[in-house]
Amino acid sequence: MQMTIDAVTRRVVESDICENLYSIDWSFANRERAHEIEAIHPYPAKFIGELPGALMRTLSHPKGTLVFDPFAGSGTTLVEAQRLGLPSVGVDLNPIACLISRVKTGVAPVNLTESASRIVAAASKSVVKQTIKIPNVDHWFKADIQTAIAALLEELNGVEDIATYDALRLAISSILVRVSNQESDTRYAAIEKKITRENVFAHFVGAVDKLNKALVARDWSLAPAKVIEANTLTLNPKGLEGKVGLVVTSPPYPNAYEYWLYHKYRMWWLGFDPLAVKEQEIGARAHFFKRNHHTEEHFWGQMRDTFKLIDRVLVNRGYACFVIGRSKIHGKIIDNADIIQAVAKEVGFSTSARIERTISSTRKSFNLSHANIKTETVLVLQKS
Ligand SMILES: C[S@@+](CC[C@H](N)C(=O)[O-])C[C@H]1O[C@@H](n2cnc3c(N)ncnc32)[C@H](O)[C@@H]1O
Repeated sequence: MQMTIDAVTRRVVESDICENLYSIDWSFANRERAHEIEAIHPYPAKFIGELPGALMRTLSHPKGTLVFDPFAGSGTTLVEAQRLGLPSVGVDLNPIACLISRVKTGVAPVNLTESASRIVAAASKSVVKQTIKIPNVDHWFKADIQTAIAALLEELNGVEDIATYDALRLAISSILVRVSNQESDTRYAAIEKKITRENVFAHFVGAVDKLNKALVARDWSLAPAKVIEANTLTLNPKGLEGKVGLVVTSPPYPNAYEYWLYHKYRMWWLGFDPLAVKEQEIGARAHFFKRNHHTEEHFWGQMRDTFKLIDRVLVNRGYACFVIGRSKIHGKIIDNADIIQAVAKEVGFSTSARIERTISSTRKSFNLSHANIKTETVLVLQKS
């Protein structure tokens, strides 16, 4: 059968795109320092901005369509989309992730540092009792630290402007590990740190100052970025069907990072339920160590549901990019990229490129040492 001119042109353009993809240095070894907006709050296994940025710059997407990240985490894809002037939408189950994404992509609140000073002035005088129900709270937070955090949160409840409220809550979230007895973000041992009530207020003011500087240092215009707090596997895509031109994501994968655990006390303090997040979190290690534990089959099913969603929202011939590593489940190494490629094929996607990239040493600080993972795969899949 003869191909139409359009189809021939499309093939040529698409083969150029693939060639361009293979010519990129995916280790980004010579990358410049990340923009300060990326450092406002810790998040495990986040993208370096260059990665989604390179995919968005290289892969075509119809004008006016959305960039979609179904596992948006701390919103790196959404920020990079804004830097390129593209509207975007991101979904994540984790309320701390969504808070970070909203603040990173939202307007810089007016007079943020002044609001923080007012809150500290009121909180340092108040003798609020800590009434938020947090399991094992005395093990992780000294009594006077608890009342200082509770006083800040209480004062914050009076803030009416949503952008200011979100930004100040994010600043509190960002200091919680530092003012707790927890050794560090990645070490879950309780140690003596000699933190005082005054330190809590000083760290809060410092965090707000840093956040404010990062927000005003964004020298790009803020294209619309919508953040949806939801389980991607059960998301109703109404309103998004056919509106997405490009998907860029790094999904959670089995028995690897534990986003809910990493943010457990942040969630308790900010009034969320980390245990509900854990139940729905794809790949959480807890699911792999209980009786009737999850297997790689669960991951197949979860990615199938993800691709069904992507299929509904993505334009025809649109690209879906997945950045994914390997897992170790009960001693067996699982290549998650193979699973995603196979599931994508079932749903009608072809593979345009499969590239292995070295994970930078900073990413490895959230180490998957139990799996000795040093590379990950960039998969570019195309809807037929
Ligand atoms: C690899 S991280 C994404 C990191 C992101 N690329 C960034 O730069 O911050 C995977 C994300 O998937 C989220 N996640 C896990 N299970 C989910 C589910 N069922 N629905 C939505 N998000 C989920 C986790 O909360 C985590 O933020």
